[in-house]
Amino acid sequence: MAMAKAMLSLLVHLHAALLFLPEPAGAAVYNVARYGASGDGAADSTRPFLRAWADACRSPRPATVYVPPGKYLVGRATFVGPCSSRAVTFSITGTLVAPAGYGWDGASGQWITFESVVGLTVSGGTLDGRGETLWACKQKQPRGHCPTGASSLTISNSRDVVVDGLKSVSSELFHVVVLQSRGVTVRRVTVDAPADSPNTDGIHIHKSMNVAVYDAAIRTGDDCVSVGPGNSNLWIERVACGPGHGISIGSLGKQQGMAVEAVQNVTVKTTRFTGTTNGLRIKTWGSSKRGFVRGVTFADSTMSGVDNPIIIDQHYCPDGGCAARQSSGIKISEVEYVNVRGSSSTPVAVSFDCSRSNPCSGIRLRDVRLTYQKSLQVAKAMSSCRNAEGSASGLVVPPSCL
Ligand SMILES: *[C@@H]1O[C@H](CO)[C@@H](O)[C@H](O)[C@H]1NC(C)=O
Repeated sequence: MAMAKAMLSLLVHLHAALLFLPEPAGAAVYNVARYGASGDGAADSTRPFLRAWADACRSPRPATVYVPPGKYLVGRATFVGPCSSRAVTFSITGTLVAPAGYGWDGASGQWITFESVVGLTVSGGTLDGRGETLWACKQKQPRGHCPTGASSLTISNSRDVVVDGLKSVSSELFHVVVLQSRGVTVRRVTVDAPADSPNTDGIHIHKSMNVAVYDAAIRTGDDCVSVGPGNSNLWIERVACGPGHGISIGSLGKQQGMAVEAVQNVTVKTTRFTGTTNGLRIKTWGSSKRGFVRGVTFADSTMSGVDNPIIIDQHYCPDGGCAARQSSGIKISEVEYVNVRGSSSTPVAVSFDCSRSNPCSGIRLRDVRLTYQKSLQVAKAMSSCRNAEGSASGLVVPPSCL
């Protein structure tokens, strides 16, 4: 027994030793330090990072770009594929810090971008977007006098990508963006930005397919996870959100033009919201833009002091000035809420405010139990329905208005 225990302990130690080897084995390794990157947080390491990537990407066998411990000042950097192998890893042990101030992204909206790569793993590391100065500008002049800012990590036009164990702090704009990509898994990612930092969405998914998010812990000033138009087959599971604006599908219908905006087949499962302004939200602008949201399951969710735990808002207009207040051209159907529990910090815990011209249909509530918690008192919550059709089953509190 003691022998077995000793063996086991040895194995565990060996395993740990392998995990913390200074450089990953088994692949050609391109250490950014050897390209002249400096971990002092002061010297600009953009070029060494790009050169290490170029060599790794050219390698016919699996290749790893390795970022050792330390702080690396990196400006706007786009790591472009396609690469020779379909197994390129970007393994970060240290921290990447963005340049000071703002505007250095040349209005590209992006800081670190992977573009047109097939078979990529981005693992570990911290990205510090240093968004503080831009947030201060936006807080002082909210009406668009400041630049938009840069999203910290963007996976663009890529396929078969894993982002694993990344920590993203203080992005100027969105922390992680999946854009026009397929087969992307984002797991064990943590996001940290203040509750009052503007537009700092945790994970934003746009025009993508087969994207999964697992085990995310997100504290930020905007949506924890936002699902833009053109997405299908999304799986979002085990997300802790707060502070933040919740998990949102939308907003849709802001852009004008003929293209239909669609979101289809989304599962959001096992989520926890703490002190967020919304929980599970679908939002569209009151505009004639056509489109649909169809086939969404929100399951197993815990709310703690959330302003709007369950909400469909088809008259979304955050900054006012939506003069027309047209009826939304986006049709929302087949949306299911299963096993949602906890407390709302406003009396209306369930709100379906749907389009007059395209009423919501097939909205289903099953086992929902939400109370209204006002300071220390627990009171009854309410439901509110406008242009919404559907059904309720199991125990549903507050009583359904569908
Ligand atoms: C819905 O998406 C999931 C992945 O999230 C996928 O496994 C499933 O096949 C999709 N369903 C349809 C009907 O496409």
